[in-house]
This record gives sequence, structure tokens and C-alpha cells, in this order.
Amino acid sequence: MFNKARLKIYPDSVLREKSFPVFDFDKNLQSLINAMRRIMYEHKGIGLAAPQIGILKQVIIADVGNGLLTLVNPTILERKGEEILTEGCLSLPGIGVDVPRSTRLAISGFDQSGKAIEMELSGLMARVVQHEIDHLNGVLIIDYQENKKEVV
Ligand code: CO
Repeated sequence: MFNKARLKIYPDSVLREKSFPVFDFDKNLQSLINAMRRIMYEHKGIGLAAPQIGILKQVIIADVGNGLLTLVNPTILERKGEEILTEGCLSLPGIGVDVPRSTRLAISGFDQSGKAIEMELSGLMARVVQHEIDHLNGVLIIDYQENKKEVV
């Protein structure tokens, strides 16, 4: 169903839309998640949100090198600390922006089968999850662009 899905590149307007919660944990969702995984790994990304392949659903994935996290309808329950680091985005090739993020998070959501998840995240994983949740709200790294710089 999403076999032909492709990465959406800025300024594609879908990247500015808000995503909707998922209610059906069905084959359609599984197909979406499979397409997201394929596209993220193809592009050597460490995270991806569904709107980045044109689907306005609250689904994110992340893999910073120690396993794949899939989160449906993610919510940040609690934040601690702050750190500024340069981020990139598969949908904004060649751009790096210094973005302040919380260093530790408590999050909730659902896995792909609809099972409730609650977990704590820190370091790079916490950063990637905040970046991907931004995508679900139509927010991009360039929105932090007082710190924008071109990557050569
Ligand atoms: Co991104």
C-alpha cells in the first residue's frame, strides 16, 4: 500500500501539516511503518516521522544504533535538562541547525500492535524523539533558525 511512498523534501507543504492520531492498529498501519523503516534506513537516517513520507498520522520511528523504536501517538509526559546540538533532517538536505532539546524525557504512546508504552529516554534518543514529534506538529529544524547555518 505504501510501496511507492517516497521521502518528502522541503518545501513540500505536507511537512507543515499537523498529523492525526491513529485509532486503528491494522494492516494499513503495519504497511505504513514498514515503508517508514525502509525509507529511513535507505537514507541512513536515525529517525523518521510519517508526514515525511506524506502520511499525516502520528507515527514516528527512531534508531540511533541500539535498536529500532516505533511509537504511535507519542506524548511527552515530562522533560528534564536542556542541551543545544546541531541537527539535520532527511527532509532538509544540507542544512544543520543548532536546536535546544530536553536531555531527558518520559514519554508515552503505543507500539505498532496497539500496546501502551511508557518509557524514559535520554541522550541522542531523547533528541531524535523530540525532533520527530516536532514533525507531527509541522515544525521543522529551520524554525529554530536564528542558529541556521549551511553545511558545506
Ligand atoms: Co526531520
